[in-house]
Amino acid sequence: MTNRQSPHGAPCRRFLAFCFAALLVACSGSDDGGGQGTGTGTGTGGTFTGLSALPNPPLTAAPSADDEPVADTEAFHTAVNFAVVREAADPLPEASVVALTEADFALGLPDAVVTAPAALDTTSNAAPFFVGLDNLRVVAGETLEIRFVPRDPEGELPGMFPQEIPEGGSFIDNFDGTRSLIWQPLQADIGITSFTAVAIDPDESDYRTSQTVLIAVDAPDDPAEIPNVAPGIKEVLPFTVRAGDPVVIEIEGVDRNGTLPSVELESAPAGASLLPHPRFDDRHVLRFVPPAAGELIIDVVVRDAVDTSLTATESISLTVETPANFVRSGTRLKELAANQGVNFGFAASPEFYRRADGALYAAIAAEEFDLLSPEASLKMAPINPLPGRYEFADADNLMAFARAHAMQVRGHTLVWHRVLPDWVLETAVAEREVHMREFITRVMTRYVDDIDLWDVVNEPIADEGGGLRSSIWSDSMGERYIDIAFAQARALDPNATLVLNEFDIGFAGPKIDGLLALLDRLQAREVPVDAVGFQMHLFATYDDFDELAANFAAVAARGLDIHITELDVSLTDTTDEQQQADVYREVVEVCLEQPRCRVIQTWGFTDRYSFRSFFDPLPFDADYAAKPAYSALQNALGE
Ligand code: XIL
Repeated sequence: MTNRQSPHGAPCRRFLAFCFAALLVACSGSDDGGGQGTGTGTGTGGTFTGLSALPNPPLTAAPSADDEPVADTEAFHTAVNFAVVREAADPLPEASVVALTEADFALGLPDAVVTAPAALDTTSNAAPFFVGLDNLRVVAGETLEIRFVPRDPEGELPGMFPQEIPEGGSFIDNFDGTRSLIWQPLQADIGITSFTAVAIDPDESDYRTSQTVLIAVDAPDDPAEIPNVAPGIKEVLPFTVRAGDPVVIEIEGVDRNGTLPSVELESAPAGASLLPHPRFDDRHVLRFVPPAAGELIIDVVVRDAVDTSLTATESISLTVETPANFVRSGTRLKELAANQGVNFGFAASPEFYRRADGALYAAIAAEEFDLLSPEASLKMAPINPLPGRYEFADADNLMAFARAHAMQVRGHTLVWHRVLPDWVLETAVAEREVHMREFITRVMTRYVDDIDLWDVVNEPIADEGGGLRSSIWSDSMGERYIDIAFAQARALDPNATLVLNEFDIGFAGPKIDGLLALLDRLQAREVPVDAVGFQMHLFATYDDFDELAANFAAVAARGLDIHITELDVSLTDTTDEQQQADVYREVVEVCLEQPRCRVIQTWGFTDRYSFRSFFDPLPFDADYAAKPAYSALQNALGE
């Protein structure tokens, strides 16, 4: 088999990166002073003219000592072979919960929002609507009922479903085509709450009308009028763990009266500790090591802070299996792949080491993979949630885990149109290039000694038609955002492998055609792309293997490497695990037949944490048992 040189980088490149970054600033191209970059343009012709100097001072503050994670000494994790750090700063409030105000309430019932399929002729089919609704004001402790009566102009009865139901509320069926929100707001609900019901057109299920109602909850003159309800516990899902591994479980007590319940173990495993969480006052951490296999039920009791007779019990169910159950026959995937000159990797769940089964997750990952993509931890929203604020702890921990297991890390991803922080979405168009480049610079500089393989730009091609995807990046810089991102990455780390990553290019069609045309334009402009990432999120019905081979060949013909970056094979109603296994095998075979295919990564490895878990797409099931797909991978890799 062709001797593939898997992407390696030279050691100690943080110093080199600093030099290149300095060089970049010193000998930059024309600088309009505002550092607004020269990357504008529509991607037509001409060699990339180089990067302008980034502004100094920067548009947003660079990471500072305040952004440095600190040692997580509370051992609220299952990491057994790398030191864990945590954010030093307190967590940000839920950015998605924008507090509603009396001013919002005074504006009256919010306008209904209608969504329809583009092709739908709405002149002959008017949208469904609700009758008899208005905003509502209640006093905490009172029970309210809001009846939702959907109607459709064509006379049929629309369907209906609720969006997020307030804690303690219910959306009951009145069995007459209407539903009612029943809710008793308490102290913790004082303020303005919104509730949205969605009516579904009787003839077109994607034709919908969302109607929000605002509920103003006032405090009563006498707080004692509010009933004290029993506390609760946030649900803890069942886990499969391995005997002998540390288990940590965060237990979160909830009390809608706004008080903090106490937490007790009724049936604690031997040696278990239950400690208050050092940073979250509504949480406790249960930690223990299950010594032997068996079914464990741990009963946790929460007791009301005001009336200790008010309690709730949650039974946590754990299946403890013997380590022998997780010993797989044959050779590990990374070893088989290495024999073929290929890296075999996975995408690592954020904070897997804080989950009950984290030790088992880590053990299997370490056995099977020599390359890791952070599934979420390096994306812009988690890393840079606010201007000048950085949260590196989870990414740092994944780097430590990778180092502990001699894994390479794929930096996923520097520039994408998704998982962006709100503040970036709200920036001025003219500032977008600098924000993009400042993020690239800060992340690549921090991890230059950990990462030598970067998904620089992710999903640049539009879903339909093969043209450039419209995004906050392309809308501000045109296609040149890609040139700029790759030039910035190359300047920061000349030895790294720089990848353009895309999905739905594993078969013939306008998307692969559009990507190849883009590559031709980028190469004509001497943009430093080293490889193309084929994400390969497939269904088990996939059979376009010849087209995949042709697409690989077209990329290789451009002197570029091929990386399979996010392989998963979703089951459908008409396919089974053997057909899933066959697709895994054939995709690997196509890769191995292409000398420039250098990397195969699955997007996770256990169905339990797949972002497509509904379709059970991965080689291990939700209890970490190897599926036929796992054996198929071994066979395809030369077992
Ligand atoms: C997905 C993650 O798996 C999800 O957990 C997250 O909510 C959204 O992003 N293509 C990509 C990946 O490049 O970054 C996406 O990962 C899946 C599609």
